Amino acid sequence: MKKSNKQNGTTKKVTTQPGTKVERSVKKMDKNAIVVNQVYKKFSKPKAAFTWLIELFKKNTKDDASLNGNGAKEPKEDRKAPTVAVDRVSFTVKEGEIFGVLGPNGSGKSTLIRLMATLLLPDDGSITIMGHDPVKDPITVQQLINRVSVEASFFKKLSPMENLIYGARLYGMNGKEIRKRVVDILTRLGLEKRNIFNPMEEMSRGMQQKVAIARALLSRPRVLLLDEPTTGLDPVSKREVQAVVRELQEQDNTTILLTTHDMNEAEILCDRVAILHKGKLIALDTPEALKQLAPRSNGHLPSLEDVFIHLTGDKLKEEQKEDLEAAQALVKAFAKENEAKEKTTAPAPELN
Ligand SMILES: Nc1ncnc2c1ncn2[C@@H]1O[C@H](COP(=O)(O)OP(=O)(O)OP(=O)(O)O)[C@@H](O)[C@H]1O
Ligand SMILES: [Mg+2]
Repeated sequence: MKKSNKQNGTTKKVTTQPGTKVERSVKKMDKNAIVVNQVYKKFSKPKAAFTWLIELFKKNTKDDASLNGNGAKEPKEDRKAPTVAVDRVSFTVKEGEIFGVLGPNGSGKSTLIRLMATLLLPDDGSITIMGHDPVKDPITVQQLINRVSVEASFFKKLSPMENLIYGARLYGMNGKEIRKRVVDILTRLGLEKRNIFNPMEEMSRGMQQKVAIARALLSRPRVLLLDEPTTGLDPVSKREVQAVVRELQEQDNTTILLTTHDMNEAEILCDRVAILHKGKLIALDTPEALKQLAPRSNGHLPSLEDVFIHLTGDKLKEEQKEDLEAAQALVKAFAKENEAKEKTTAPAPELN
């Protein structure tokens, strides 16, 4: 299917199904929708119960084993050190762009989304959503965005229709047309009509995920933040959700930032992809350009999965190597110290 944007757009080739290339028109993206500037977010470790008792115990305990040769305390691993979830990340998402964020578990994807969605405050750096700062102007940002998270919550005894009408009212929407829109969106996402009026608790996780997506679409957000929108969905449902995401971009010029562990999804859906590793941005480009970052095997262009493993896996190997070297150095130092101790405490040699 060929589509051309005659007004001001450019035409871009994307894959919509594995192995099939079709041309998709992309509206000219010249306005910034999301600007992430040097964002830093850390989480402090929670204090253990009876902290004061533990501290008192530590004060009264002489830990000679941790004294080094000079009598000074060896630095111990700091168990209270905060987790740096997002480490000075910067990027810009254009209006109407589908922007993917990939990264291993714990690399900071959801934290980044929660910062954009006014649910967390950054420790440093700044974000703007359509020119508005989520810290200084959270109400405006909340009206511009909507977020779908993997752990969406509902009134489980109520039906999708009741839950969505409730959600719509929170956004000031009312009236008959909302009921029609709910049915339209849910059926577009592949939910059977009879399920629309049954209690949520009787629905599978995948079905509930579709209701969460529908709820986010109801308010017609300018910026849609999708945190693993297709995790746990069957292949057909995945396609249905992906089609809706693409439709939103093409028809409404919605800006979509999504996280996913599905490399194929990132490749077929996203205009550009950012890769996070341990809170740091380690790569950002179009899927096609990212594929140049990994070595070819037997002359074949690597897949996005190869690139992901090449970038994040190699980093992991480097860190493991550094850990191993540090451990080896420690063992050597201990052996040396023991040797020195043995020499000083060894009995004097007998003279005859
Ligand atoms: N509320 C919190 N309190 C403490 N630490 C947190 C909190 N939220 C996230 N973290 C930590 O921040 C880091 C990033 O977590 P985050 O949930 O953003 O990762 P993710 O990339 O979304 O991972 P996944 O792919 O598993 O969803 C992790 O080390 C996590 O343990
Ligand atoms: Mg996450």
